[in-house]
Amino acid sequence: MSDLRPIRIEPLATEQHAFRRRFFWYPSARSGFGALLDSTASTKRERVLLPAFIGWSHREGSGVLDPVTSRGIPHSFYRMGADLRIDLTHLEELLQRHEVRLLVIIHFFGYVDPGYRSAVDLAQKHGAWVLEDEAHALYTDLIGGLSGSLGNAAVYSLHKMLPLPIGGMLVLNGGSNEVRELSPAGDPDKDVLWGYDLARIAQQRVTNALLLAELIGPLNGDVDLLWPKLEPGVVPQTLPVLVRSVPRDLLYEHMNNALGGVVTLYHTLVDGITLEEHPESHALSRRIMNLPVHQDLGPAEIHAVASQLAASVEALRDRGPHDR
Ligand SMILES: Cc1ncc(COP(=O)(O)O)c(C=O)c1O
Repeated sequence: MSDLRPIRIEPLATEQHAFRRRFFWYPSARSGFGALLDSTASTKRERVLLPAFIGWSHREGSGVLDPVTSRGIPHSFYRMGADLRIDLTHLEELLQRHEVRLLVIIHFFGYVDPGYRSAVDLAQKHGAWVLEDEAHALYTDLIGGLSGSLGNAAVYSLHKMLPLPIGGMLVLNGGSNEVRELSPAGDPDKDVLWGYDLARIAQQRVTNALLLAELIGPLNGDVDLLWPKLEPGVVPQTLPVLVRSVPRDLLYEHMNNALGGVVTLYHTLVDGITLEEHPESHALSRRIMNLPVHQDLGPAEIHAVASQLAASVEALRDRGPHDR
């Protein structure tokens, strides 16, 4: 039987709120996050939940935690597994135990957690807002379409993903009335993002990541990919690897002295993520290293990164792995 409801089709889209996203410019992701915290302040639901893998450095502080602690907001860390995936059981326990205002999901290095959708569902079931931290996932969101739109809001760090000295964005997703009514104090509709060919930048990053992953394949056992597969639509910020057979800090130093371009996210975790409660996070923090795949690099540079990695591992082989 066909549906007998009369259907009217407009020649053009007219739904004002369908797929609507509002973009507010800030100097950084952390200031966008702060503005969201200010505009959703509530005395009943206070607590913010964050993943137990957040770094700190002398130079930058903590881009994720500082907006929370500087406002004196109570917070808890949900467990991350040894593969840096969300522990949904622990997340649910925290949502049951506390009146949670906001769940923060970080799309680490531009990748999307397999538990992303379930984590958003859990938060929404418990009445919490969801912020997607896309400091690393600008392209996975805007080009891949895999992240950024299930939560209520997202933040980008423009200066980390484009050649800009400063810049961040807070994105409010259109869905609920509450979100529509928020008016954070950012600069709306600044058009900085459209000054770049984001699709081709994304393509270059994916090409670089696939090539680098292939070239370092023979180092398996010494240096392993954190996540073996690059899902279609994922656009990496860096290629995360785990250093197994030599001291990570020495390898990092050796690589950067010889070639540059290597970072470690995160070599030092914020104080609240304790070794006792989060041993998996600490194990990751000791071994992780992030190889460059950004849009300024082409095949010659990617080959250089892979060759230098092999040479640096060889040079340090007699130092053995060290566990702090
Ligand atoms: C996951 C993550 N979120 C947020 C930030 C903060 O970015 P920004 O420097 O734009 O405030 C950083 C970097 O510090 C980060 O690594």
